[in-house]
Amino acid sequence: MCGIVGYIGHRDAAVIVVDGLRRLEYRGYDSAGVAVLNGHGIEVRREAGKLAQLESLLVQSPIGGPLGIGHTRWATHGPPVQRNAHPHSSPDAQMVVVQNGIVENFQPLRRLLQDRGYVFHSDTDTEVIVHLIHSHYHNGSERDLIHAVRAAAAELEGPSAIGVICQDDPERLVVVRLGNAGGVVIGHGEGETFLASDIPALLPYTRRMQFLENRQMAILSRDGVEIFDLDGNACDLPVTEISWDADAAEKGEYAHFMQKEIFEQAESIQRTLAHRIDFDHYRVDLPELNLSVDAARALRKLTIVACGTSYYAGLVGKFLIEHLARLPVEVDYASEYRYRSPVFGQDEMVLAITQSGETVDTLAAIEEARDFGVFTAAIVNAVGSQAARVCDGVIYMHAGPEIGVASTKAFTTSLVDMALLGIYLAQARGTMTAETHHALIDELAHLPGLVARLLADARQSGHYADLAARYGERHNFLYLGRGINYPVALEGALKLKEISYIHAEGYPAGEMKHGPIALIDERMPTVVVAPRNSVYDKMVSQIEQVKARNGAVLAVAEEDDAYIRAVADAILPIPPVHELLSPVVAVIPLQLLAYEVAVHRGADVDQPRNLAKSVTVE
Ligand code: M6R
Repeated sequence: MCGIVGYIGHRDAAVIVVDGLRRLEYRGYDSAGVAVLNGHGIEVRREAGKLAQLESLLVQSPIGGPLGIGHTRWATHGPPVQRNAHPHSSPDAQMVVVQNGIVENFQPLRRLLQDRGYVFHSDTDTEVIVHLIHSHYHNGSERDLIHAVRAAAAELEGPSAIGVICQDDPERLVVVRLGNAGGVVIGHGEGETFLASDIPALLPYTRRMQFLENRQMAILSRDGVEIFDLDGNACDLPVTEISWDADAAEKGEYAHFMQKEIFEQAESIQRTLAHRIDFDHYRVDLPELNLSVDAARALRKLTIVACGTSYYAGLVGKFLIEHLARLPVEVDYASEYRYRSPVFGQDEMVLAITQSGETVDTLAAIEEARDFGVFTAAIVNAVGSQAARVCDGVIYMHAGPEIGVASTKAFTTSLVDMALLGIYLAQARGTMTAETHHALIDELAHLPGLVARLLADARQSGHYADLAARYGERHNFLYLGRGINYPVALEGALKLKEISYIHAEGYPAGEMKHGPIALIDERMPTVVVAPRNSVYDKMVSQIEQVKARNGAVLAVAEEDDAYIRAVADAILPIPPVHELLSPVVAVIPLQLLAYEVAVHRGADVDQPRNLAKSVTVE
C-alpha cells in the first residue's frame, strides 16, 4: 500500500516521478505529492485526492530539478487530506521523507520528539520519521545524513520503506527497507538512477533492476547505487534484467486495466504453460519449484496460505491436488495462519499464492513456516518480489503486470499453475491414471484457445453490458457453486462487491437449504456455476429451487446446455472443458459480469474505494 518513486540524474525529476506514480496509483489513491531538490532548496507539492489533482497543481505551480521523490498514499494514520499527504518535511524544510508502511511505535516517538520541541503538522506516523532523522542529523557537530537515517531506522518499529532527500546532500537519495513494507526496486540507467515500490513504474526507463532486502539501505546517486546493511556493512545485490514489455503496464485500447487484463487471459495462460509441458512424453516439469521427485513422493501434507482472490485459487488447488496427487491439503487465510500456532510435521510443504508477492500477511505466514524449517514455495506473479525471493521454490504465474485492483488474470494463471503442480506431484507419487494424465495435458494445451474464443464471443455479443443493464441496480446477489467450482462462486461474489459495491455472497450450493435459501425472492438474483460435471444434477436442482421461489437465475453453463438455457433467466456461456480445469473458464463470465456492472453503475473500476492493489500493512 502506498507507492514511492524517486529519481536522480540529468532529466526533470518531477516529470519522471509523477509518471512513475501514475503507474503505481493502484497502490493507493488518497493523496499524492512530490518533492524536488533544486537551486531554491527542496520544493514540495502535495494534494489530497488522486494523482490528477497533483498534476493540476504542478501545471499551476511547476517545480524542476534533477533529484526528486514522490508518493501516492493509501491512508493509515489520518484522513486523506492535504496535510497528511507525503512528502513530509523537517521543520527547517531541509529534508523530506516519503514512507510506505507503518511506524508501530509512532505514539511514544511523537511524544519524545514533541518534548524535544518538534511541532507536528499532520496526523501521520511518517512525520515522526522525518523529525527523528532531523533530530539525529543535528545531534553532534558532524552532520551526516546516512548516519542520521541509520540511527532513526534503529528506533522505528514496524515495516517501512522510507525514502529521504536532504538539501545539504544534493547528490544522494537514501532509501531504507525495514521489514515487509512492500517492494523497494532500484533501477539503473545511464547517468541516472531510479527508485520505485514496484517494477511497472520504471519499465519505460530501464529493465536493469535490483530489489532491496529487509534491513538494507541504498544510497542512490546519478552514477549508481551503494547498498549497506543497517550496521554499515556493504552488501551485494544481484541486478535482474526484467523482460516485461513496457506496454504491458499501459491500458492501450481498453477503458480500464481490469478490462484489458480480463481480455489478456488467453495470452497469459499461454505464457504460464510455456516450457513446462513436454508434449512428446506427456510430462510436466517445474524446475524453479526446487522440489525433487523424491521429495514430492515423500510429502505428507501441503498447506496453502493466501489472501483474497489468491485464497480462492488455493481452494481450487486443494480440490485439484487432493484429487490428482492424493496428498492432504489445508488452505488457510494467511491473515489467520500465524495467529493460531499451526502444527508442523516432517515432510510438509507450505505453498503461498500471491500475485504481488508483497502481501504482508502472506509473507508473515511464509516466515512462520520457514522458522519451523518447513519447505516453502510460492505461486507468484511479480518477478523479484519478496515471496519469490524468500521461498525455497517458486512457480511463476507469468501473467505480466496486473494493475487493476480487482485480480483477474492472476487468478486464472494461478489455477493453471495449480493444475501443473497437481500433475507434477501426481507424476512423482504415481497417483494418476495414464488416461487422466493424457486428458489433462491435452486439455491444458487447448485452454488458451478456449479462453480466447469465450472472450471474443463475449466482446462481439455485448451480452455482459446487457446483463448489467438488467441487473446492475440490484442491491444483493447470491453466488452458488459446488465441488471444484464452489471457490469460483466465492471469487465471482468478491469481484462484484469490490468494484461495484453491491453486496454479494458466495455459498457452496449444498448449504443453501441450511439457511441462505431464506434470502431468495424476486429481488435477489442468484448466479450459479453449473458446467456439466460430476455435480451437474445437484446444480440443476438448485436452479429449480431458486426458480420455484421467484428468484432470477444467471447461470454459468455450457453454451449448448439447452435445459439450463430454457430454465435460467440468463446464461453466461462457457465451452465444455475437463472438470478439473473448468474453474479457469467458469470464472471469466463472472469477471465480465462484475466489470460491466461496475461500469454501468459509474464506479471507478480500477481504483475502487478503500482498496489498494498490494496490501502491505496489517
Ligand atoms: O497480491 P496477492 O495475491 O497476495 O493479493 C491478495 C489479495 O489482496 C487480492 O487478491 C485481493 O483480494 C484482490 N483485490 C481481489 O481482487
